[in-house]
Amino acid sequence: MMTWGGILCLNADRSFPMFTHLPHVLRHGELPPESKQSIPDILTTFGSDVAAAEFFAEGMTGASLGNFNLLARSFPFARYTSLGDLGGSSGCLACCVAAAHPHLTATTYDLAPVHAAAERHVRAQGLEGRVQVVDYDFFSPAAVPGRHDVIALGMVLHDWGLPRKMQLLRKAYAALPPGGALIAIDHLVDCRRAGSPLQLGMSLTMLLEFGAAESAFDYSYEEFCGWVREVGFSSTQLIDLVGTAKAAVAYK
Ligand SMILES: C[S@@+](CC[C@H](N)C(=O)[O-])C[C@H]1O[C@@H](n2cnc3c(N)ncnc32)[C@H](O)[C@@H]1O
Repeated sequence: MMTWGGILCLNADRSFPMFTHLPHVLRHGELPPESKQSIPDILTTFGSDVAAAEFFAEGMTGASLGNFNLLARSFPFARYTSLGDLGGSSGCLACCVAAAHPHLTATTYDLAPVHAAAERHVRAQGLEGRVQVVDYDFFSPAAVPGRHDVIALGMVLHDWGLPRKMQLLRKAYAALPPGGALIAIDHLVDCRRAGSPLQLGMSLTMLLEFGAAESAFDYSYEEFCGWVREVGFSSTQLIDLVGTAKAAVAYK
């Protein structure tokens, strides 16, 4: 059973050691090669290492459980019938929403290494039958496999640079019916990138994790609104979650 404590282990093993290389990163724009021995590459972690992917999923569950329980109560899920969570990891969001809204079904989509951990999490919540676990690469040309009127991207947009952020937003837009909603959960920075030190620390962590070539970053609500309008969404909404976390919502 996954618990809150996973985020402490993830920070201890990945995020804090990464910051010991900050002087090198500031001089050279990326982590030193020797750091790869102690901090597994993030894309290998996601894509091909089951033990590392499960460890990462435990960390994310710890980080996200409070936000997802609050989102399940704060967003009007009563108006919707099906949630698709892209990059859903352990299935934490899908389970929180399905548990709070018995009329609704949910699918958690992620890469194959996290599949077994997600199945275990869904079973532990007693939600088999209402929450499906599906392997799906969200950068593949294939459309989102299921039909959903809500698509979520929980702590996913901040993992990528602008081109891939836009690719994900276009994919979500294409998958939703008119009236459908996209929910992006992240630690949104202020629009001047000056007054939100915790969120900017998260943004720097993403830059260190994904490297200069990807240039991942945390973003502001104003940036989110501009991107989703460009993609075609018609209106937006901001929902406060725990601490600095927010849900940025775009309606099709
Ligand atoms: C930062 S975690 C967020 C997990 C979860 N949504 C949360 O907020 O707790 C990013 C997730 O995206 C998944 N991911 C990365 N690349 C992916 C891809 N190409 N297709 C599907 N999922 C991917 C990772 O495996 C990981 O579970």
